[in-house]
Amino acid sequence: MKKRMISTEIMDEDYKIENSLRPKFLTDYIGQSKAKEKLKVYIEAAKARGEALDHVLLYGPPGLGKTTLAGIIANEMDVNLKVTSGPAIEKQGEMASILSNLQDGDLLFVDEIHRLSRQVEEVLYPAMEDYVIDVVIGKGASVKSIRLDLPRFTLVGATTRAGMLTAPLRDRFGVVHRLEFYTVEELTEIILRSAKVFHVKIEKEGATEIARRSRGTPRLANRFLKRVRDFAEVKYDGVITLEVADYALDLLEVDKLGLDNTDRALLMTMINKFKGGPVGIDTLAISIGEDSGTIEDIYEPYLIQNGLIARTPRGRVVTEKAYLHFGLKFDES
Ligand code: ADE
Repeated sequence: MKKRMISTEIMDEDYKIENSLRPKFLTDYIGQSKAKEKLKVYIEAAKARGEALDHVLLYGPPGLGKTTLAGIIANEMDVNLKVTSGPAIEKQGEMASILSNLQDGDLLFVDEIHRLSRQVEEVLYPAMEDYVIDVVIGKGASVKSIRLDLPRFTLVGATTRAGMLTAPLRDRFGVVHRLEFYTVEELTEIILRSAKVFHVKIEKEGATEIARRSRGTPRLANRFLKRVRDFAEVKYDGVITLEVADYALDLLEVDKLGLDNTDRALLMTMINKFKGGPVGIDTLAISIGEDSGTIEDIYEPYLIQNGLIARTPRGRVVTEKAYLHFGLKFDES
């Protein structure tokens, strides 16, 4: 039996559905071919040696499959998966307790690992490096530190912001991999696979349209698939065609490039208020009423990847492609 330990995550409907769609083994996992290729070798080598897999850090924008990959690694290694997250562990003792309850070979997944406090992080250093923890007992003059051995375990850390990880923590991961946005072809394949799981009828053109508007992100693709299915069932004959996908996604205000209202507000603010930039991230965040971290983690990566904005030393600038997307004239001066 695989064990899960979810401290802060709420098992809401979206989470349950996402879980049911998660591939369980590397062969079912679509996309991220570099990550798959590397992990396959490391897993095979660790298994052949009878050792725990080296610690793995996965980073990149949300929704690209970091949690899914952690689950796959556990399945492929045939070990228990324990799940927790940075903000859920507030005290050193909590981290020590989690670590000392691990069994040989277990995989500990720490989501949002950049949000661990420095003190909690310090418990991880000897744990990751030498499989030991130092526990402080007693008070005042009789305070003592004792060293406890831990089982061999694998830490899989996930973060949207590798840059926010401290160097000592980052350096203790043997495998560091950045997840990439998915191509339209890969997302189409994921949508067709999910539609099968849901028993929804879908035409290839319908799947491709959802894929095109899912900003390279499987989590969004599966979410949109569910919404489009509702429209297909209520307003049409149950089949997701190009027409249904177009109709539903237009209504959801997701445009042809997958941009939502916040993306558009961000770009239009840069164009209208800052003449296309350059503009600093904090100024931009205040102008659209969003948190600058959210812009950097969630909105900006896709806009940059798509060539709609560019980073310069003096701030962000809107590109010609963005002007053209909104039907505006681009003035280079
Ligand atoms: N569902 C969500 N992400 C997936 C992926 N990368 N491959 C297959 N199914 C998925």
